[in-house]
Amino acid sequence: MDQLFERARGVIPGGVSSPVRAFGSVGGTPRFVSSARGPYVVDEDGVEYVDLVCSWGPALLGHAHPEVVAAVREAAARGLSFGAPTAAEVELAEVIGARVPMAEQVRFVSTGTEATMTAVRLARGATGRDAIVKFAGCYHGHSDGLLAAAGSGVATQGLPGSAGVTVAAAADTIVVDYNDIDALTRVFDEAGGRIAAVITEGAPANMGVVPPAPGFNAAIRELTARHGALMILDEVLTGFRVGPSGWLGLEGGYEPDLVTFGKVVGGGMPLAALAGPARVMQLLAPVGPVYQAGTLSGNPLATAAGLATLRLADAGVYAHVDRRSAELQAAVSDALTAASVPHVVQRAGNLFSVVFREQAVADYDDAKAQDTAAFARFFHSMLDQRVALPPSAFEAWFLSAAHDDTAMARISDALPSAARAASHS
Ligand SMILES: Cc1ncc(COP(=O)(O)O)c(C=O)c1O
Repeated sequence: MDQLFERARGVIPGGVSSPVRAFGSVGGTPRFVSSARGPYVVDEDGVEYVDLVCSWGPALLGHAHPEVVAAVREAAARGLSFGAPTAAEVELAEVIGARVPMAEQVRFVSTGTEATMTAVRLARGATGRDAIVKFAGCYHGHSDGLLAAAGSGVATQGLPGSAGVTVAAAADTIVVDYNDIDALTRVFDEAGGRIAAVITEGAPANMGVVPPAPGFNAAIRELTARHGALMILDEVLTGFRVGPSGWLGLEGGYEPDLVTFGKVVGGGMPLAALAGPARVMQLLAPVGPVYQAGTLSGNPLATAAGLATLRLADAGVYAHVDRRSAELQAAVSDALTAASVPHVVQRAGNLFSVVFREQAVADYDDAKAQDTAAFARFFHSMLDQRVALPPSAFEAWFLSAAHDDTAMARISDALPSAARAASHS
């Protein structure tokens, strides 16, 4: 593995196609995966791991579900890409709309980044305003304006969160602490006429899992509506994973103007979407003035995988993932408690993460104030015992419908010594 990583670093920056895969925050050498099936991934040395990454969310059914693979094979035999509309796109848009009724119209793209970037452009086009509000610690992909990070203070003008993001792009992003509705209210009082949209994750899972406080999302809805701004609910991670209708279906009681999907909706293929009521979506080209396009958008292999996945993701699948998630949360917590490791399990539906600190996490500052070194020791002990966790303390742990008794037992067996490793600095 070390040799392959060395070779990779020679020809690929950091040896990876997406930064978190490089093990930067836990140290060591990433496992290069050669195949995956059900709840397992197999590395290039032929070592099999129980997988709690699930491709960072998409593998809701487990890896390489035979019916999904068959659907993709069948689609591939009919052609890889047409650059023309297909019946499968229509069908997938209908399936999405049946699950999420506010999604009257759907535009397919290839990545979550494109979905949120387009949603922001659409909000600007709809309102004629420039500013966007996002919450510290929420991740919405890597488009310029959404990479702005918080400075100090309650609500700060965004600062570029990456080299190469212009000050001008970041200046149109206002960053507010998560779960702080007073701060958001003050931002609207001061700059309401400038704000095109507030974008928020359904339930944030990119600073670890941080559930919205009761009423937080509804308050965003109320404030945006009062000030003529749009509410964009980013369900790239939660959509079709935490339940058949995503976080919106679990929480209910409010309706955003736009919703973004990714991950599960493409069943492991590069497919994402933005969706909303026709009154907003019709502003997109070719009907309206907001331009957006993509050579591979709505790709037939990706739509086939998405359709097959959503067809199979029935109530039984969600009940299974919910149950396995609750079991694993309890097992991890028991093991850490037995080893006297301070921790909190943060949960939002079946999504959860384990935070290595005593107090619950309400926002990004809380999330950063944890013992990431303890997580790294825990992570490596699990990996040595053939259980692959997400390689960062700031990520959710993902389960699937394929995590059966055998896979769960393998995880449980590994937990006590991983917990002891976490406790020894
Ligand atoms: C909530 C959320 N939005 C957007 C994105 C970006 O999606 P992608 O990585 O497909 O560009 C992610 C990716 O993890 C995400 O979790």
